[in-house]
Amino acid sequence: MTNLQEKNNIAPDFAYKISVAPMLDWTDRHFRYFLRLICRRPLFYTEMTAAPALLLGNRHKLLDFNAAEQPLALQIGTCNADFAKQCACFAKDWGYCEINLNAGCPSSRVQSGAFGAVLMAKPDLAAECVSKMTESGLPVTVKTRIALFDEPNGFEALFHFTDLMKQAGCQRLIVHARRAKLNLSPKENRSARLPIDYETVYQLKKSFPDMTIIINGDIFSIQAANEHLRHVDGVMFGRLAYGNPYALSLIDETFYQDTHPILTRAEILQQMLPYLETNIRSLSVICPHLTGLYHGCANAKVYRQILAACDLEALKNFIREQR
Ligand SMILES: Cc1cc2nc3c(=O)[nH]c(=O)nc-3n(C[C@H](O)[C@H](O)[C@H](O)COP(=O)(O)O)c2cc1C
Repeated sequence: MTNLQEKNNIAPDFAYKISVAPMLDWTDRHFRYFLRLICRRPLFYTEMTAAPALLLGNRHKLLDFNAAEQPLALQIGTCNADFAKQCACFAKDWGYCEINLNAGCPSSRVQSGAFGAVLMAKPDLAAECVSKMTESGLPVTVKTRIALFDEPNGFEALFHFTDLMKQAGCQRLIVHARRAKLNLSPKENRSARLPIDYETVYQLKKSFPDMTIIINGDIFSIQAANEHLRHVDGVMFGRLAYGNPYALSLIDETFYQDTHPILTRAEILQQMLPYLETNIRSLSVICPHLTGLYHGCANAKVYRQILAACDLEALKNFIREQR
């Protein structure tokens, strides 16, 4: 076990202060491996995996991860309590440090399976899933939104939902601070630009002082995260982590007092090379995940072109030129 892995096996109950959101097609194992070279401490989430895929599909393909990715939580999507329990048991067997239930994703694909944000309208069902998941022995968490779009009593519904989650054994609630509009694809939901409402999440924390509440949504800097931490217990970064991952390089020091040397962008790429060479057949999947590393830098365009061509030799030259 490397020093990095040893360091990553820290108690996950501390790691949640900063986390990286579950993002379908983005936070796969390759991206998580890459992001660990930038920040060691925050809690990472997998992309959402639908329970039937885990029960019937290739579990090694869906669940295997590199020890360096820890601390790592598995997010699942289901509204079937027995399936939820089985998935939580798989997560435990595989060594994940937490199992998370998706109760906030408004995708039409997710609704057809009647989970995700649909669970906000069925809090009893969500609570039943959570309660069963706790039988696995893994910490159980839930990710949700502040309300459904057309819910007239938004805060009341959120309060009731939180209360039920807490009673069912949910250890932490992650709240994306905007409403969810059902019947829209995730892309449509993003472009619908529903307003962000941090005050509701702060209010929720005041109403449940002993419940761990994590805030998420449109948080794009360490300064902004610091501000939110005055009101809630943790901050979850989504698009920032993917679009501008190097922005997370100060997180270990700022939030975890871990003062290890921060790798330069070129050093990160140098450390990625063996991984890329080992996974040469997956370069077309892995390379897009690295695109954001030079976000805002003068040579970002050249770098993106090299990645788009999946050209390892050109990447090695690019790294050399950085030195
Ligand atoms: C490409 C993409 C995929 C996403 N996939 C998931 C998912 O699998 N599960 C989930 O709970 N949320 C998913 N989300 C929502 C994010 O977890 C997060 O809540 C949202 O992006 C808001 O955070 P941000 O403003 O920091 O990006 C996804 C978001 C994006 C951009």
